[in-house]
Amino acid sequence: MAIKCIGILTSGGDAPGMNAAIRAVTRTAIYNGYQVKGIMRGYHGLVTGEIVEFKSQSVSNIIQKGGTILKTARSKEFRTEEGRRQAYENMKAAGIDALVVIGGDGSLSGAQLFAEEFDVPIVGLPGTIDNDVDGTDETIGYDTALNTIVDAVDKLRDTASSHERLFFVEVMGNTAGYLALNGAIASGAEAAIIPERDTQVDQLADLINNGFRKSKNSAIVLVAENKATGGALGLAQRIKQEFPEYDARVTILGHLQRGGSPTAKDRILASKMGATAIEALSEGQRNVMIGIKNGELVYVPFKKAIAHSSQMDLKDLEIVKILSM
Ligand code: F6P
Repeated sequence: MAIKCIGILTSGGDAPGMNAAIRAVTRTAIYNGYQVKGIMRGYHGLVTGEIVEFKSQSVSNIIQKGGTILKTARSKEFRTEEGRRQAYENMKAAGIDALVVIGGDGSLSGAQLFAEEFDVPIVGLPGTIDNDVDGTDETIGYDTALNTIVDAVDKLRDTASSHERLFFVEVMGNTAGYLALNGAIASGAEAAIIPERDTQVDQLADLINNGFRKSKNSAIVLVAENKATGGALGLAQRIKQEFPEYDARVTILGHLQRGGSPTAKDRILASKMGATAIEALSEGQRNVMIGIKNGELVYVPFKKAIAHSSQMDLKDLEIVKILSM
């Protein structure tokens, strides 16, 4: 069946650049003769039928804004078969033939299931600050979040060095350590403690004994939020007990990392991916995510995108260590 009307939604945690992606999808679709509808609050809005007509002007003046004008949610109803059936019926009633879903791995998993169950053409865009989607070198929002981390660490560095303190800065990432690792490289932090590293290695003792104790009076350690790392509070607690000679402090950056105006890099990525999503649907592609690999836009089957099988390059931890000597 020929596609006439495309629905767009953003789902899961918001990410800076989602608006740039919405704008690119909407305008490229209209340019190519499609009708566009915006679905509010992610899959939740599909289940409840919150669907609005989108014109070219609906996406004016949003490229520079963080968050998502479509709002977002983590829908419980859509996890049930009954919810997804309701979503399909609402989608059909609104005349939507295909979907563009912008979100992280959870949202793409939902898209894959929905596409399989109801034979709906869906193209996904990786929108998450976590960068934990396979088949793409970067996700929309990751660069902006990294820059937010760098700004914060630059400020913390001033006070850390004045007081000669050890700072644990907890960053987001869900189960992944990309924000911690690359945030550490970009900010010149002394270490990154990430869940991808072998749990047999005591990353904290390693830091204290092989770096901090020898040459530094102050240090900043980026810690990925995760049970495996103990989080920043857990590590500070250990310092109190095991290395009481150090004066440790904790900063949890939290949802700060999700906000802000997207960087030029995220705007460009989102714009290119959004335009490519419409190209993909026009070519008859379905159940694929748009990824970027070595600078090339590629189609990644949903199954591969959500597999979590790609390995982080742990050699980069060595770079953090060497460069902070
Ligand atoms: O997936 C994005 C993310 O910000 C993760 O880094 C974090 O673990 C999670 O979302 C927080 O979710 P919420 O906004 O629902 O607290």
